[in-house]
Amino acid sequence: SRTAVVIPAAGRGVRLGPGAPKALRALNGTPMLIHAVRAMAASRAVSLVVVVAPPEGAAEVKTLLADHALPDRTDFLVVPGGETRQESVKLGLDALPEGIGVVLVHDAARPLVPVDTVDGVIEAVREGAPAVVPALPLADTVKQVEPAGPDKPGAPEPVVATPERARLRAVQTPQGFDRDTLVRAHATVTDNVTDDASMVEQLGVQVVVVPGHEEAFKVTRPLDLVLAEAVLARRRA
Ligand code: CTP
Ligand code: MG
Repeated sequence: SRTAVVIPAAGRGVRLGPGAPKALRALNGTPMLIHAVRAMAASRAVSLVVVVAPPEGAAEVKTLLADHALPDRTDFLVVPGGETRQESVKLGLDALPEGIGVVLVHDAARPLVPVDTVDGVIEAVREGAPAVVPALPLADTVKQVEPAGPDKPGAPEPVVATPERARLRAVQTPQGFDRDTLVRAHATVTDNVTDDASMVEQLGVQVVVVPGHEEAFKVTRPLDLVLAEAVLARRRA
C-alpha cells in the first residue's frame, strides 16, 4: 500500500510573534511550509502530501505549491484546517484517498527534518509497528511543578517530582502510523492532546520510538528562526 503525509500547517504561530501564519513565514526567502513539504517529498516512499492550510489561506497555499518545483512522483492536496492541531490533523485524514496504508503526520513547523529520519519512521511502520515517533534524549533535567495560578504570573512554583532524565525522550515529527489505527484514534479520543501518538496510546496500542534528529526541531519562538536560517546556510555552504 502507499504512504501519505498529512502536514498540519493551520496554526497562527502566536509564540513566534505578530505576522503571517507561521507556516507561511519565510526562511531564507522560502516559506517554511515549502521547506517542510520538500523535506517530506524527499522520501521516495511518499506518494501523497496533504497540506492542512490556514482556513483563510488555502488558495494562497495552493498557489505556493504550484509555484515551487516538487518531485513528479508526489501528489498534493490542500484542505482548510481547524481550531486546534488535533482538528486540523483530523481534517487532513478525512481527505485521504483509498489505497493509503501508512500515514505520517508532520508539523509544518519542523521544516528541516532530514530525509533519513523520515525514511526511518516509514520503515518501522512498514515492518509492523502501528505507531512510530522519532525522539531524542533530553539535554535539560525536567521538573514537574505545581503551576502557579494565572493570577500569580512569575510566582515561585513548588517542585513535585524529578523524573529520571535518562528515561525521558523529546518527541518530534513525522510520526508514522498504520492508517486504520490513526483514524480510529482520531474518531475515539476527544481530549486536547499535543501529539498524535498520545491518542494512539489512549487506545492501548503500543507506540515505539526511533532516533530523531536535532534538525527536526520545531520552529516555535523567534530564536528558532535564527537557528533555522543558520542550518539552511550551513547546508548551502
Ligand atoms: N496547527 C494546525 N492547526 C491548528 C494549530 C496548529 O495545523 N489549529 C499546526 C501548526 O501549523 C504547526 C503544528 O500544528 O505546524 C504544530 O503546532 P505549533 O508549533 O504549536 O504551531 P502554532 O499553533 O501555529 O504556534 P503557536 O502555538 O505558537 O500559536
Ligand atoms: Mg500551537
